[in-house]
Amino acid sequence: MLLQLTDMSVLAARVRAVPRHLRALSTGLLPVPDVDRQPTSPLAWIGLANQRLEELGSLTRDRIASHELHPGSYQIRLFLPEISAGAAQVLVGLHRKGVSPSSIAIAIDEIIRWKTIAQCAYAHRAGPYFDVAEVFIGAQWDRTIWPIICNEDLSHTLDLACGHGRNAEMLRKSAKTIDLVDVNPSCIEFCRRRFGDQKEQCRFRYHLTDGNGLSEVGDGAVTFVYSWDSMVHFDKLVIRNYLFEIKRVLKSGGSAFLHHSNYGTFAPNSDWTKNHGSRSDMTAALMREYADEAGLKVKFQRLSGTNDGWGMDDLDCLTLLSK
Ligand SMILES: C[S@@+](CC[C@H](N)C(=O)[O-])C[C@H]1O[C@@H](n2cnc3c(N)ncnc32)[C@H](O)[C@@H]1O
Repeated sequence: MLLQLTDMSVLAARVRAVPRHLRALSTGLLPVPDVDRQPTSPLAWIGLANQRLEELGSLTRDRIASHELHPGSYQIRLFLPEISAGAAQVLVGLHRKGVSPSSIAIAIDEIIRWKTIAQCAYAHRAGPYFDVAEVFIGAQWDRTIWPIICNEDLSHTLDLACGHGRNAEMLRKSAKTIDLVDVNPSCIEFCRRRFGDQKEQCRFRYHLTDGNGLSEVGDGAVTFVYSWDSMVHFDKLVIRNYLFEIKRVLKSGGSAFLHHSNYGTFAPNSDWTKNHGSRSDMTAALMREYADEAGLKVKFQRLSGTNDGWGMDDLDCLTLLSK
């Protein structure tokens, strides 16, 4: 499904909820915090990065520009609580080591990580997507997904970013246990009502993630990790972290089927919310590179586009990894 971030009424409500003094800050009427006084403040690091832009590498400068990371950024204001909570530990550690161009670059990556996680979680909290998408899964499964995964061991499957469970409905025919993972409590609750603890021969378990890891799932616990129509929106930094987690939770010999963006080949270092189909800056080549770093092997990979219904050639990529 091509997801458009068009649920403007929901976003607008969130905008209206921003306190007036924060709106004043965004228009430059209030001072930006100082990193030495508030080392956990994303705004302080963004302010510092903008002051020292010339000292930063071109990659960090590109990311600052595309994500509009300046102290008055609307999206930073909207998601400041989530970004602050997610990034605090890393930011305080960076400050302890001393502020340098490389620590500013890491801080910017960390802020982008939590900004994109918060945006993506928020975009899928509610809305018509889930009901509409349900209609398409049968054809997507038969034509695209099953031919790639039919020889994998699905006996204990983890469905990453499960939504309302349309994929689990297909996976449960081959699995004995499914771990459902999502960042939105509403999705977890929907799936719990849909499947319960057991549906026919398949057992279900539910995990809320912070959007960046699989901390509730044990090492070597699953035979198969599956993710469809979700990672396409995840920033490359988030996907890289998930790959290390996927390696950790897979049994030796297990595998992972991941549907992700390739739009980074057209718009590297871009902000997913502005891209075609809300696709992130991930690419097929980056997936191979990150998989290698995480210690996973690429078993199969192909680009996915118009023929799979995504509305643009080479927009996405389907990757099968093995441990
Ligand atoms: C477009 S929906 C797709 C849901 C499901 N995979 C499907 O095909 O119907 C994207 C899902 O990703 C979840 N999500 C967004 N960001 C996430 C993250 N960082 N980690 C885990 N889940 C996330 C959302 O809550 C939502 O359920």
